[in-house]
Amino acid sequence: MDIKDLIIERRSIRKYKDEDVSTDLLFEITSLALNAPSASNMKAWQLVIITEKEKIEKIKRFSPGMGFIPPALIVIGIDKKKAAEKAGEIASKEFIYYDAAIVSYNISLLALEYLLGSCIMASFNRQAVAKFVNFSEEVCPVLMVSIGYPSVEPTKRITKDRSESIFLQNYESR
Ligand SMILES: Cc1cc2nc3c(=O)[nH]c(=O)nc-3n(C[C@H](O)[C@H](O)[C@H](O)COP(=O)(O)O)c2cc1C
Repeated sequence: MDIKDLIIERRSIRKYKDEDVSTDLLFEITSLALNAPSASNMKAWQLVIITEKEKIEKIKRFSPGMGFIPPALIVIGIDKKKAAEKAGEIASKEFIYYDAAIVSYNISLLALEYLLGSCIMASFNRQAVAKFVNFSEEVCPVLMVSIGYPSVEPTKRITKDRSESIFLQNYESR
């Protein structure tokens, strides 16, 4: 798919076929996704790929935003120490969230390129997830992305009238 189709077709997918996603493919997607812009060039991402069902089931217990059990889950962590070394205090207040979001979105678009569905999630207990994946104290799990072969056709996107959100030269043009 070209980039325009990927952006238009991507939807959050929360229902998956009972079919494994190969770890090779997950490594491919995550490695490509790290080709992302990064605030102050921090590049402090620490990703954990989880495919074992029992582990995913346990993470679901402390993740209210994950109302389903996906075949694979990627925890997007950021090393706050490395981030602070590169960008100072603002890194942990702001930059870690931007950097995690960009990589998550890359993962979602790349997943679709491989006909996989995905859902970015922020609603989970960060402390519990950090402990569960054995992150060291410096690493903060910011987002998670579920991945699997979709068992549902995503509903078609209704393209928003651009005049509601996009303005030319200044906001008064609305
Ligand atoms: C930062 C962020 C956090 C999100 N957290 C969750 C979540 O915890 N659980 C969930 O089911 N969806 C979550 N979503 C997915 C949104 O609900 C979804 O993107 C939105 O409803 C628009 O639908 P679409 O992705 O299909 O276009 C999150 C999305 C973003 C960008």
